[in-house]
Amino acid sequence: MEKTLLVYLLLASSALLAQTQSSSLKVNQQRIDGRLLELAKFGAQPGGASRVGYSKADQQGRTYFIGLMRKAGLDVSIDFAGNIIGRRKGKNPALKPIGFGSHIDTVPNGGNYDGTVGSVSGLELVDVLNENNIVTEHPLELLIFSNEEGGTIGSGAMIGKITPAALKAVTQSGLTMADGIRAIGGNPDSLSKMVRKKGDLAAFVELHIEQGGILEKENLQIGVVEGIVGIEDWEVTILGTPNHAGTTPMNNRHDAMLAAAKLTIAINEVITSHEGRQVGTVGKIAVEPGAYNVIPGKVMLGMEIRDLSYDKIWSLFREVENRAKEIARVSGTTITFRQPLTPVTPALTAKPIQDKIILAAKSLGFSYRTMQSGAGHDSQEVSHIAPVGMIFIPSVGGISHSPKEFSKGVDIANGATVLLQTVLALDRE
Ligand code: GLV
Ligand code: MN
Ligand code: MN
Repeated sequence: MEKTLLVYLLLASSALLAQTQSSSLKVNQQRIDGRLLELAKFGAQPGGASRVGYSKADQQGRTYFIGLMRKAGLDVSIDFAGNIIGRRKGKNPALKPIGFGSHIDTVPNGGNYDGTVGSVSGLELVDVLNENNIVTEHPLELLIFSNEEGGTIGSGAMIGKITPAALKAVTQSGLTMADGIRAIGGNPDSLSKMVRKKGDLAAFVELHIEQGGILEKENLQIGVVEGIVGIEDWEVTILGTPNHAGTTPMNNRHDAMLAAAKLTIAINEVITSHEGRQVGTVGKIAVEPGAYNVIPGKVMLGMEIRDLSYDKIWSLFREVENRAKEIARVSGTTITFRQPLTPVTPALTAKPIQDKIILAAKSLGFSYRTMQSGAGHDSQEVSHIAPVGMIFIPSVGGISHSPKEFSKGVDIANGATVLLQTVLALDRE
């Protein structure tokens, strides 16, 4: 036999052997469950957790998780935005790393699965490789992004989009973003030095709970994400005239709260008056001075609009602005919108990675469908510098961003296995 043919056959058979060996790899559901339970202790609240980015609970959760990453043999570092990066060497250091992971911060009064499922499953992937003495060709990076719920801040910093104005904004933790980043070991003054270029990662794959009810309703095990919505949020300030609630006649008031209520309804009307899957929410309100017997002089609303089309988000916002002008005129208030500080643009996942996720699901015997993500994700920031893929698993009752958020252990383990197989398939390329 010709020598080159022999070498080819040897290489092909060893690749086939590696593929056969890797396709039988199993994740450890108990270990995943145990770690999710442990993580849930940081910022625990009845049924869920409040572990908002940069808070004490977030810091403690991160310390716990960093310990696990080190135990798994990862070379752990914290970048300037406070992202936790765990590196595992590959056989070929010339190759760019394959990344996977998610986030471990939560919304206030949130659940125990959003972000943590992808983070714990990413770590599980590393443990399974360790247990089976598998060294991939590519280096691997487990990425735990900081403050995802505050507007994909850590992943946004990785693509260079965090502005000085955003760093000054006060976050849910009570700290400014700059101080928050310092509190988790980052350095807000050096964010420009951590920006990654297109091609710095070979690929990024994120496993996440669906956060909606489609998979559960259709009795499917895996969602293959095709696109992720864009999200814009505006801080709205409404200024009226604070005055005595007993002595000021109803026809002589400039009530900021009343204007805020009308604006909230107007936003809902604008969003629902168009065809499509756009959503708009007023999810935050602060009233000043905030007393039974004082007509509110100032209201701050937090409002967001999401859609797969960035242009549509902005045309809806222009309509909201027009309605606000009219409400302000009639109520004698002023209404101003602070422009979004951390715009999150819609993103498409990479078709070749979708195909690998589908192949992995099929070969494991899991039912699946392709779908959109109505939630924002770190993957959409990473999509600016690398091809990304996202795997969804069912959310019981379609509930998320709530202590009632729940995903079954078996579904999480299925997703973790698909993640593992997808990363190995990417590595074989
Ligand atoms: C992130 O979880 C978001 O969709 O707000
Ligand atoms: Mn979330
Ligand atoms: Mn999330």
